[in-house]
Amino acid sequence: MNPISSLVFVLLLTVFPTQILCQTALIEEACGYTIYKVLCLETLVPDSEAHSAKDLKTLAKVSLKHTEYEANFVDSNIEGLEESSGPGPVRHALVFCTKKYVTVIAKIQAAETSFAQGNITATKAQLTDATINRQLCDKGFEGKRYKSPISDWTTKLSQMQNNAESIIAHI
Ligand SMILES: *[C@@H]1O[C@H](CO)[C@@H](O)[C@H](O)[C@H]1NC(C)=O
Repeated sequence: MNPISSLVFVLLLTVFPTQILCQTALIEEACGYTIYKVLCLETLVPDSEAHSAKDLKTLAKVSLKHTEYEANFVDSNIEGLEESSGPGPVRHALVFCTKKYVTVIAKIQAAETSFAQGNITATKAQLTDATINRQLCDKGFEGKRYKSPISDWTTKLSQMQNNAESIIAHI
């Protein structure tokens, strides 16, 4: 290689990948604070807002947004199961969960609003309220002969919220 193309080569290797790696570096830093790192990366890496984020605050906001999406997804699945399950204790527990998830979703939305206003104390308190109501739903299935048909979804939701809380704790 002549000196000019060597220089171009070095520039391409350094400048351009550095720009790409810097974006990912922020996501990696944020997810490094979380317990469920793989889930955190799966959530943030494909998100365009997260990808162009310049600070942890934006990544926390995106994490909260996906936590809300997941809560809505869990709620829809609960309602679907209610319709397909016959009368009995499982349906009874699912109906109870639907009532609790009205509050779960409202509290996550309230937390997003508080976070946008820079009110971290209120954000944390509202997320705690969301957790309390999510756990009330889970408790409806504890100590029963039947297994919760929604445990995989509620576990994923709890992990996504925990990740958002871990990122919020570092801003
Ligand atoms: C944060 O939000 C709470 C609850 O909505 C409110 O009582 C409090 O005054 C807010 N704090 C600030 C600094 O805005």
